[in-house]
Amino acid sequence: MNFILNQKYSDGNTPIRPEEAEQLIPKISTLAELNEYEAVNILRAREWAFDNRTMKSNDPLDEVYVRELHHRMFDNVWKWAGTYRQTQRNIGCDPKEIVQRIPQLLANARYWLENKTLPVDEALLRFHHQLTKIHPFANGNGRHARMIADIAAVKYGQAEFTWGAGKDLVAAGDARTRYLAALRALDADENDLKSLFDFARS
Ligand SMILES: Nc1ncnc2c1ncn2[C@@H]1O[C@H](COP(=O)(O)OP(=O)(O)O)[C@@H](O)[C@H]1O
Ligand SMILES: [Mg+2]
Repeated sequence: MNFILNQKYSDGNTPIRPEEAEQLIPKISTLAELNEYEAVNILRAREWAFDNRTMKSNDPLDEVYVRELHHRMFDNVWKWAGTYRQTQRNIGCDPKEIVQRIPQLLANARYWLENKTLPVDEALLRFHHQLTKIHPFANGNGRHARMIADIAAVKYGQAEFTWGAGKDLVAAGDARTRYLAALRALDADENDLKSLFDFARS
């Protein structure tokens, strides 16, 4: 799994640690293969998540669902799929705080939506941003936090976000650059939701 540890990380991408890299399930040796395995796994999770029956019987703003979705997105690739990270990152809270911060964030998001204190898009984009800030998993946080925002959008009667029409925003490129700039603008000023909104609905 040296190809994982030796990769060049694009801007805003969390490096995988040796103890996490060891938990790779498929016997593969290139990043292209890893990306492909993850993409296939994520597609299957997507089919499950957007299926009408799943939509009806699940609340995406439930703590168990947050972990289940990550598990379904990465269960064929990483043994730690669906489990919270245990090590510190350059981004994200202290790992010991994740178990409290996720339920708090979910309760806030549900409150904004149920009491209509914020428009649905605004509530979900704030939720998305704060979820990526907590950074609950060892990897896959961006993809997971975008998909869960999309699922909640549909659940609350909106269209999925377009995320700048970037395919999965994993590869470096214009869409990813705009995406990260929009998240950072919101880091710097909690009132500056405009760039993220323009991006996610463009
Ligand atoms: N400054 C930042 N503020 C908020 N979120 C960020 C910031 N930098 C990176 N992120 C989030 O972290 C994600 C990268 O984390 P990672 O776990 O590697 O996810 P993935 O593997 O899906 O790309 C980005 O896609 C973005 O969602
Ligand atoms: Mg990553």
